[in-house]
Amino acid sequence: MRRARARLALAAAALAAGVVLAQERAIPPGELKSGSVFLGSDLRALQNDDFANPGMLWVERGERLWSELAGKKTLACASCHKDTSMRGVAASYPKIDKASGKLVNLEDRINLCRTGRMDAEPLRYESEELLALTAYVARQSLGLPIATRIDGAARAHFEAGRAAYHLRRGQMNLSCAHCHDAQWGKRLLSETISQGHPNAYPAYRMEWQTIGSLQRRIRACLSGIRAEMLPYGSPEYLDLELYLAWRAQGLPIETPGVRR
Ligand code: HEC
Ligand code: HEC
Repeated sequence: MRRARARLALAAAALAAGVVLAQERAIPPGELKSGSVFLGSDLRALQNDDFANPGMLWVERGERLWSELAGKKTLACASCHKDTSMRGVAASYPKIDKASGKLVNLEDRINLCRTGRMDAEPLRYESEELLALTAYVARQSLGLPIATRIDGAARAHFEAGRAAYHLRRGQMNLSCAHCHDAQWGKRLLSETISQGHPNAYPAYRMEWQTIGSLQRRIRACLSGIRAEMLPYGSPEYLDLELYLAWRAQGLPIETPGVRR
């Protein structure tokens, strides 16, 4: 009897796992919309104009840093990577770093090269240099569809990210899904809630008067619902980033986005 029950529990767990695997995205691929769709026409035009888009300043800074910013070994990024070698890279992040087995986003990956290959200090999250290099690398994937992988070691991070996305938090007891799956297209104060995709980051935000990372944007949402904010680079944010990338699968990269 006990064995039968154990087997039943196992079967139920396997079934649940199967259901999770087969579960459809809340927003089907045909209905995916970039955040830029929900902007006013003025900001959309600004994003699409390479000369006027304020975020392009960071892309240009990143291009300079790419060949100048050197560590103690006096190597620059360009010493090892060809200028055009980063096309498609940003579309595949977050990703498991083979050497450490850890999930890393593009910022972390750049810092892994700084610490592991250049004998240099890691760049701080939201520092001008890290934002510039991240924007420069991501810009090279302009127009390419997000294509992250959630198999193998990434699977557990994906599940954790899914749970974090659906967790009710803060004084308002809301999850990310409450707004970005269930209420997108509706007005919230002066903004229209988008589907909450990561494809334009780092993005220039008028409210910040600067460019910011995806994690900064996530923290702004958490602050908006009076929920606890974690430090930049926290594992929970990385898991969330992976889940966001998965639900945006196929959406083209638009870095640097322009937002309110
Ligand atoms: C109360 C509603 C609300 C909740 C809850 C919320 N957000 Fe947001 N979020 C917004 C609004 C409003 C914006 C700014 C307009 C837009 O782009 O949607 C935004 C923007 C974003 C963006 C940027 C989209 C873009 O194209 O620039 C991302 C990514 C995002 N949210 C992720 C999250 C995540 C992850 C959570 C959960 C931790 C979350 N949000 C919770 C309302 C919410
Ligand atoms: C000494 C050589 C070297 C330098 C200098 C270097 N890298 Fe790397 N980089 C590598 C190697 C090798 C890899 C392949 C992954 C690995 O084994 O670490 C890599 C991987 C990467 C990746 C991931 C590519 C992918 O396909 O996922 C990015 C992004 C990257 N480097 C950015 C940078 C940036 C930005 C700099 C400058 C701050 C830099 N790298 C400096 C050697 C270098």
